[in-house]
Amino acid sequence: MATDRRVAIIGLGYVGLPLAIAFAEAGLEVEGIDVAASRVREVNARRSPIDDISDERLAAALDANLRVVDSSVGRPGDADAVFVCVPTPITATKDPDLAPVIQAAEFLRDRLRAGQLVVLQSTTYPGTTTGPFRQVLEASGLHAGADFDLAFAPERVNPGDPASSGRTIPRLVGGMTPEATRRAAALLGHINDVVIELSSPDAAEMAKLLENTFRNVNIAFVNNLALLCERMGLDVWEVIDAAATKPFGFMRFTPGPGVGGHCIPVDPYYLSWRAREFDFTDRFIELAGDINFGMPRHVVDLVAEGLNDRGRALKGARVGVLGVAFKPNVQDARNSPAAEVLALLAERGATVAYHDPHVAAFTDAAGVVRESRPLDGLLATSDVVVAVVAHRAIRWEAVYDRADLVVDAVNVSAGRSTRPRQVLRLGAGWLVPA
Ligand SMILES: NC(=O)c1ccc[n+]([C@@H]2O[C@H](COP(=O)([O-])OP(=O)(O)OC[C@H]3O[C@@H](n4cnc5c(N)ncnc54)[C@H](O)[C@@H]3O)[C@@H](O)[C@H]2O)c1
Repeated sequence: MATDRRVAIIGLGYVGLPLAIAFAEAGLEVEGIDVAASRVREVNARRSPIDDISDERLAAALDANLRVVDSSVGRPGDADAVFVCVPTPITATKDPDLAPVIQAAEFLRDRLRAGQLVVLQSTTYPGTTTGPFRQVLEASGLHAGADFDLAFAPERVNPGDPASSGRTIPRLVGGMTPEATRRAAALLGHINDVVIELSSPDAAEMAKLLENTFRNVNIAFVNNLALLCERMGLDVWEVIDAAATKPFGFMRFTPGPGVGGHCIPVDPYYLSWRAREFDFTDRFIELAGDINFGMPRHVVDLVAEGLNDRGRALKGARVGVLGVAFKPNVQDARNSPAAEVLALLAERGATVAYHDPHVAAFTDAAGVVRESRPLDGLLATSDVVVAVVAHRAIRWEAVYDRADLVVDAVNVSAGRSTRPRQVLRLGAGWLVPA
């Protein structure tokens, strides 16, 4: 079998664009295809839409073997292998929304060629690749395993964390046939030092959901512990630091205002939905969701408690939110818990503004759009500020110098010199009691 050299990538987001660039850097011919003309224009204008990809790196790939086009002119039929990296969101009722995956499969169905390898890379429930995805592809008249190869290879990129990107991160791959696994593994071997072959696409799909559900459940566990520590007058951060000195059998997770992003608050519901088809209730996932989605409300309660300490009500107070991205040092604000924090504060009568050096405009959970305010102005006009994201780029020293009251949901005040009853921490009470 000839070596695969031409690759098409469908979906050029946080996952697909870095994949396309990595393959191009490895010397393969790459066609990147996106349904959004605006995304294609931006990339072809050599402006990287992704924090972790510099404009220079993008330009170098475009000058070499990367071609980026929209779906109306994309020719995935010309490639040896096609990777599908489209979103897998959930609906308002937390059921999987496979519409983008099905649309990408339909696009491919009309262009599929015998001998091709198709690899689904979007996170999804076990059974998607060999179920609905395969069904749509086979409507082409070609059969998976006989006429074309089919595999699933989950992505492990962790945006904003250079240590968890690139070729040193082991990749998983499971094909419908041993040949599909081998081909997909050989291709991924161009860009990853270690590729682990699994027995099936279903096993690879489940492994990805295990990774993300593990995080979701453990974050819920420490969030719950944080609530208990507040009641007991203990400092959850001290307790976690202490437990983390154990050199085996413990993994550190930290509490916060909730979970966000495209993965942790979303992926577990792909698993619990699929579990229900097997008459199985995944109670861990339901419980973790209850706790994590309840955290923004708890942060708002802490703001009310802090104001109460000053003899003030939340209603009518001016609240400045510091950080709205879904995690530190990224511009990605998808599913950010800050959306709920802002909406709940406003619902309870506060006047709300925010500062985030990475996010110029932000829509809260009630659909209200605000623009990031300069930090100095925000500090001068806020009765209380809430640290929701510990971005390095926020001038925290200015915050502690000037704010009368800080509610700290992410322990960004640790180790700083603060005044008595200035900082109220999630999971720990007043940082310096009176
Ligand atoms: N973002 C992460 O950190 C991360 C990590 C691991 C896995 N994943 C998974 O990878 C998948 C992609 O996530 P992402 O963060 O890259 O999403 P994204 O929203 O950043 O990008 C998806 C891209 O696909 C395009 N698209 C949507 N439908 C399309 C179609 N039918 N044809 C062509 N293009 C289409 C969109 O325009 C967009 O540019 C998801 O399943 C996600 O769960 C994401």
